[in-house]
Amino acid sequence: MTVQTFDQTKAEAFADRMLDILNSGAIALMTSIGHRTGLFDTLAKLPPSTSQQIADAAGLNERYVREWLGVMVTGRFVEYDPVTGSYSLPPEHAAFLTRAASPNNIAVTAQFIPLLATVEDRVIDCFYKGGGVPYSAYQRFHQVMAEDSGQTVVAALEEYVLPLVPRLTEDLNKGIDVLDVGCGSGHALVEMAKRFPNSRFTGYDISQEAIATAQSEISHQGLTNIQFQVKDAAKLDEVEQYDLICTFDAVHDQAKPDVVLRGIYQALRPDGTYLMQDIRASSNVHGNLDHPSAPLLYTFLACTA
Ligand SMILES: C[S@@+](CC[C@H](N)C(=O)[O-])C[C@H]1O[C@@H](n2cnc3c(N)ncnc32)[C@H](O)[C@@H]1O
Repeated sequence: MTVQTFDQTKAEAFADRMLDILNSGAIALMTSIGHRTGLFDTLAKLPPSTSQQIADAAGLNERYVREWLGVMVTGRFVEYDPVTGSYSLPPEHAAFLTRAASPNNIAVTAQFIPLLATVEDRVIDCFYKGGGVPYSAYQRFHQVMAEDSGQTVVAALEEYVLPLVPRLTEDLNKGIDVLDVGCGSGHALVEMAKRFPNSRFTGYDISQEAIATAQSEISHQGLTNIQFQVKDAAKLDEVEQYDLICTFDAVHDQAKPDVVLRGIYQALRPDGTYLMQDIRASSNVHGNLDHPSAPLLYTFLACTA
C-alpha cells in the first residue's frame, strides 16, 4: 500500500498560484477592454493625468475609466501618484499595449480571453457529446484573428516569411498563381496582391463572414489580381493549378489535416511550393511543458472541431 503524504508547502504555493491566476484572468479581461476602448493609446499620449482627464481624452465615462484604472494600477500596468491623483502608463509598458507598438501589442492577443468565454456553454456541451464549436459561434473571432495575424503574419511577410523560400520574391514579381487556404479575412493575401501586381491570388476559407470581409477589402482597395471564395479546405478539387500555396496558422485547425495536405499537394504544379506557417509545438503534452504559451494554445478548442 502506498501512503500519500500531503506537502503543506506545495499546497500553499499552489493556492498562491490560483489567486494569481484569478487576478491575471481579471487583468486579461481589462486589457482587452483597454485595447478596444483605446484607453492604452490615450494614456500613452497623455502626461500624468486624472481619471477625469483620461476619460475626457478617450471620450469615455469617468466612473468606468476610474474602475478600469483601479485594475490597471493594482495590476502594476499603470502608475498612480496619490498626491496629485494622476495616472501614467510607463513607456516600457506602452511598448506592449498600444497600437503604436504593433507588432508587439500583446493587448491585441488579450482579446482572445473574453472571446473564448463567449462559447463556454457550447464547449461544455462538447465535453459531454463530442463534436466541435464552429468559428461562427465565437463572437468577433475573425476580427480579432485578423488583428492578431496582422501582427504575427502580415507584418513579417515581406521581411521574414517570403524570403524563407529561395527565389520566391523574384517569381512573385514575374507573375505566378498563388492560393491561400484558410485565408480568414484575407489580409496576408491582399498585402501580397498589392505588393506583386503581376501575380494572381486566390483565397479560400470555410467562413462566409471572413470571406465577405476579404471581398469588401478587395473592392475597397480596387485590386483586380485577387479573388476570395468560401471553400472547405478538405474538399480541394483542383489539379496542378498553383505555383505557390500558403497556409497561415490554418493547418493545426483542421479536423482532417491529412486530407487537406493531400489536396494542397494535388493542387500544386510539379515544381510548385507549399509554404506553411503554423504553431511550433509538440503533439505530446510533455513536449509542451516549456512552451511559453501552451495553456493559451490548448484553450483554443475551436481547433478541435
Ligand atoms: C487561425 S485562423 C487563421 C486565418 C488566417 N490565415 C490568418 O492568419 O489570419 C484559421 C482559419 O482557417 C479557417 N478554416 C478552418 N477550417 C477550415 C476548412 N476546413 N476549410 C477552409 N478554411 C478553414 C477558419 O475559418 C479560419 O479563418
